[in-house]
Amino acid sequence: MRNLMVTGGAGFIGSNFTRYMLEKYPDYTVLVYDKLTYAGNLDNLKDVAARFGDRYAFVQGDICDAATVREAIRAYDVDTIVNFAAESHVDRSIMNPDAFIKTDVYGTYVLLEATRELGLERMHQVSTDEVYGHVPEGASKETDPVAPRSPYAASKASADLMVNAYHITYGLPVTITRGANNIGPYQYPEKVVPLFVTNALDDQPLPLYGDGEQVRDYQYVLDHCEAIDLVLHKGEIGEIYNVGTGTEMRNIDMTRLVLKLLGKPESLIQPVRDRPGHDRRYALDVTKIRALGWEPGHTCEEAIEKTVRWYVENEWWWRPIKSGERYREYYRRQYAGREIT
Ligand code: NAD
Ligand code: DAU
Repeated sequence: MRNLMVTGGAGFIGSNFTRYMLEKYPDYTVLVYDKLTYAGNLDNLKDVAARFGDRYAFVQGDICDAATVREAIRAYDVDTIVNFAAESHVDRSIMNPDAFIKTDVYGTYVLLEATRELGLERMHQVSTDEVYGHVPEGASKETDPVAPRSPYAASKASADLMVNAYHITYGLPVTITRGANNIGPYQYPEKVVPLFVTNALDDQPLPLYGDGEQVRDYQYVLDHCEAIDLVLHKGEIGEIYNVGTGTEMRNIDMTRLVLKLLGKPESLIQPVRDRPGHDRRYALDVTKIRALGWEPGHTCEEAIEKTVRWYVENEWWWRPIKSGERYREYYRRQYAGREIT
């Protein structure tokens, strides 16, 4: 394992993972293969291109395009695929599921086929705790059945099932990680934490869905990257590993913490109509990844604090996104007239 293809590497977690791996392994190369959808952004990799020019390459391509995927694998002598490429936002999957089925399901199949035909060493699938669905009590184990409830979660669960099927049927060397909510640098400001931080910085309302009692496990993105690295090197082929802090936080508490860290008033909180089918709670049992030797480096609170600081210090990154017509149009569609008064 030396030459990685990081699909979706121009997005949030993929760009953090690319930087992390190039810093950690001086003899590795990384090819970022990314379609550059609205969420893909070469600004996320600006420093990477400058620092690791000889070991880093970028190809713009769709994971659904089998010919271009194979061409890139051959051209860069790729031995391992780490698949981050996906449509990743639940609200967009509710508006329009089409791209989710194409990229998250069919695209994963294309990568599996390429892994099989070209005899790659590993295909790692980056999955999500959302595949387990709403978890009213206890914590999801890797052996629990999937019970996805949004089009996004269903597309990710479908991909997991196909990855597992390729392992069983063809003996493909695969691994899967199922991560809890990531936060940190370069997260597109549609996701709740960067959305709330950047709105608060501009004294704009923070649209909190429903009663704000929903529970998430907000983990720092580099902790998640570390866990994927560990699974790549020490994980068992054919296995699934949950990744999260194993603790929980209510959205209302996350929101209050963001405001407190920024010195902004709670009057900025604007309750809005809830997300349809909103999963009220996710909770992961992380015993298995811990047994491999991984510990989360940050609590949810520490992760939020670091994230807030990054957005305060990096307006150059998020202001152009938020002021662009594409983002503003999405924001209007998603939030206009949704206020609960
Ligand atoms: P993101 O939306 O920030 O990035 C996705 C990237 O994939 C973008 O660069 C986009 O251009 C690219 N992409 C989309 N469709 C593509 C296609 N057809 N071909 C090639 N590239 C394509 O997403 P993220 O938050 O970084 O999530 C990365 C992965 O991690 C996803 O698979 C997601 O399901 C999973 N995940 C995310 C979280 C989270 O909290 N963000 C948690 C657990 C798992
Ligand atoms: O759990 C892992 C998942 O985390 C990943 O698989 C997804 O790719 C990622 O988008 C994220 O999904 P969530 O739906 O949990 O993240 P989001 O940031 O959209 O929402 C987090 C919580 O905040 C959720 O309970 C909904 C709520 N929320 C979200 C938005 C965008 C609000 O209250 N207001 C908002 O405006």
